[in-house]
Amino acid sequence: MKKTTFVLCGLLLGTSSAQAASLDFAMGKALFDRPWTSAPASTQATDGLGPLFNARSCVACHPKGGRGKITVSNDGKIGGLGYVLRLGNEKGEADPIYGRQLQTNAIHGQKAEARVYLDDNYYRIEDLAYGEMSPETNYAGRLSQPLFGLGLLEDVSDETILAQADPEDKNNDGISGRPNMINGQLGRFAWKATAPTLRIQAANAFSNDIGMSTPIHRHHFGDCTAKQPECQKGPHGDSVQFENLEIDSKMLNLVALYLKRLKAPTPQVQETLPLFKDVGCASCHTPELTTKSGKKVAAYSDLLLHDMGDGLADGIAEGQASGREWRTQPLWGTSNTKRFLHDGRATSVEEAINWHGGEAQRAKENFLKLSASDKHRLISFLNSL
Ligand code: HEC
Ligand code: HEC
Repeated sequence: MKKTTFVLCGLLLGTSSAQAASLDFAMGKALFDRPWTSAPASTQATDGLGPLFNARSCVACHPKGGRGKITVSNDGKIGGLGYVLRLGNEKGEADPIYGRQLQTNAIHGQKAEARVYLDDNYYRIEDLAYGEMSPETNYAGRLSQPLFGLGLLEDVSDETILAQADPEDKNNDGISGRPNMINGQLGRFAWKATAPTLRIQAANAFSNDIGMSTPIHRHHFGDCTAKQPECQKGPHGDSVQFENLEIDSKMLNLVALYLKRLKAPTPQVQETLPLFKDVGCASCHTPELTTKSGKKVAAYSDLLLHDMGDGLADGIAEGQASGREWRTQPLWGTSNTKRFLHDGRATSVEEAINWHGGEAQRAKENFLKLSASDKHRLISFLNSL
């Protein structure tokens, strides 16, 4: 499939608006599923993958729209698509050489940045291809998140989310959720709420994960820095046909629209277990938010940032989120989840709760004090979501 197919599809519409909407969804899905290829140096009318990248397609890291997987080979090398290493420091700075993410793949003729191994549950980076990383740079894993129902979360008004924020903890409950404001917009998506909209998140992914330019990140070399001139000058697919980009506004909008329409998971249990609130989980994992059009969204998140303590801290600030803060991860879809938390370190709900600290310390302690049967009830409830 060539990119031009999608442009032509758009012109074929002599159809009803319902047909047009489903055609748009299908085209968005095709772009989401599509494995991009690199541009040969001789022509620009091709895709423009990379030069450096983590995966070739969105679906590779979000299999069936779901969460990524982690695999570790016998020699400890981390594979598993949907798992990346984020780079940065407490000041919010990227690594001066390697940028904001370690790209472990490269197109022919370019050098992948490094290989990542898992050693005693910690990362070991080998074969750094562009010299030493800054000693100030921290690195931490990020497992891809499931994409279902995010359109509903995009439709919750800023006011509804901000009504739950309590940055100075005025109500003295030890919990001080705050928004991650990104260029004046409220961040909602990704583990630190760095993307205010699905369109921006899709553009971030095209740039950081796949190495492609969009109207939002116009560099065709994605996350490559000035210290990686071979990459910056590498082959690209920017083309006049596509607004001098690799992914033009029409394509980006189709991908965002596809994400917008992915249906929310349906929980087996509709009612929130009172114990969930009594223990204090609901103070962050808000059982229900209401969209601008009045729809109820049982995502179990306030979409705000919380200091989760030393155990989960990664020392990487993103936007206004500090190295200790994370967006409350929605709990819908837990019945399908095998790896929990931002880097997938927990393999069960119980283990995920055990990692909670900081603002969630009190809730965790309440959970640990529950009788065995109450614990069991709470865990069964979570596993039904
Ligand atoms: C290399 C793997 C990889 C690829 C390719 C990738 N993603 Fe992701 N995706 C991730 C990771 C990892 C996260 C979490 C990122 C973070 O927290 O910073 C994520 C997060 C997201 C989110 C936010 C989900 C939420 O709950 O907030 C969306 C939406 C998303 N990706 C869409 C896309 C789209 C669209 C594409 C293709 C253009 C794409 N992704 C390509 C790994 C990937
Ligand atoms: C102070 C806010 C806060 C409280 C209170 C809280 N959580 Fe969380 N929860 C979070 C944040 C933030 C994350 C994401 C942390 C990360 O990925 O590093 C999270 C993640 C999780 C996850 C993993 C979700 C996933 O898909 O990876 C589970 C399960 C969970 N919480 C359950 C609970 C339960 C049960 C309680 C009550 C005992 C609770 N939480 C209390 C903020 C909170």
